Amino acid sequence: MKHSFGSDNHSGVHPQILDAIIRTNSEFAVAYGDDEYSQQVLSQIENMLGGECKAMFAVNGTGANILSLANLAHSSDAILCPATAHINCDECGAPEKIIGCKVIPVEHTNGKVSVESVKKHLHGFGEQHHSQPNVLSISQPTELGTLYTVEEIKALADLMHTHNGYLHIDGSRVSNAAAALDIPIKEFTADAGADALSFGGTKNGLLMGEVVVLFKRVSAHRALFLRKQMTQLYSKARFMAAQFDEYLKDDLYLKLASHSNEMAKYLETRLKEITQIEISRPVETNAVFAYISRELYDKLSEKHMFYIWDEETMEVRWMCSFETGKENIDEFIEDIKNNL
Ligand SMILES: Cc1ncc(COP(=O)(O)O)c(C=O)c1O
Repeated sequence: MKHSFGSDNHSGVHPQILDAIIRTNSEFAVAYGDDEYSQQVLSQIENMLGGECKAMFAVNGTGANILSLANLAHSSDAILCPATAHINCDECGAPEKIIGCKVIPVEHTNGKVSVESVKKHLHGFGEQHHSQPNVLSISQPTELGTLYTVEEIKALADLMHTHNGYLHIDGSRVSNAAAALDIPIKEFTADAGADALSFGGTKNGLLMGEVVVLFKRVSAHRALFLRKQMTQLYSKARFMAAQFDEYLKDDLYLKLASHSNEMAKYLETRLKEITQIEISRPVETNAVFAYISRELYDKLSEKHMFYIWDEETMEVRWMCSFETGKENIDEFIEDIKNNL
């Protein structure tokens, strides 16, 4: 397949990241993150996020989410999240299975919950028959490609803290959020009151690797043990370190994310030429959602890879990645026009 709009995960590995892996291959190093290189890169990530936090590598995005959340929630807790959340729809019940807690989907607009929609679920505290709604998990950007403002995140964090709870951010595409908002990741995580962050890399050019960050209100004393139990402890951690080192150097993570965001904007602009296509969500990062006919989907999918998001409404999702080029979009637009 020469290009895919199916997912940013369909892209390859950025050549600089591959080179960094190869450079790291020439030496021996102790395993499980006890090597100097891993420690140095994790400290760099902690400093980038304000210093008052603990960072650790995780293998994949689902694992990073569950490990983050396991440090915040007990099995008698409920985790609130937008109904569209990856932890609710696409993690095969991992929070329920691994943490043992309840996951409660919350009403959302374009993937975003509000203080009002979360408040409706903040009851039953101290009531022994109720799962305790102690954690809110949001995604930045959301699964629908939209963004919370810093103020919105602050308000959600304050709400949870007022109830002695926590805020987790699924940042599987956190670099796209930082690039789009044009502010450091720290500003909408640590500074906004987030208690845990899943800091993604795989969707934006890494071969594999995510980072779990626990901020100052969270005790990290169980974190390493939980990670091992959850099979998220990768032995040759220096290869994760090499990838994140390169990713953060000269802001490569922002350059790649800015590119994928720009491509989504370009796709949106070109789609607006076609009156038969209705863009269904605000395009704020690297995802474009639209309603198309089943006939058009069938014709386009003979040549182009993308997914139907909602079978009932025929809403489809087109994701742009660091490898998407204008020529891929121009070709796609031509094919849409020729198949109407
Ligand atoms: C918002 C979000 N969070 C988490 C994940 C999980 O990542 P992984 O597939 O690496 O487990 C994904 C993957 O698509 C995602 O879109």
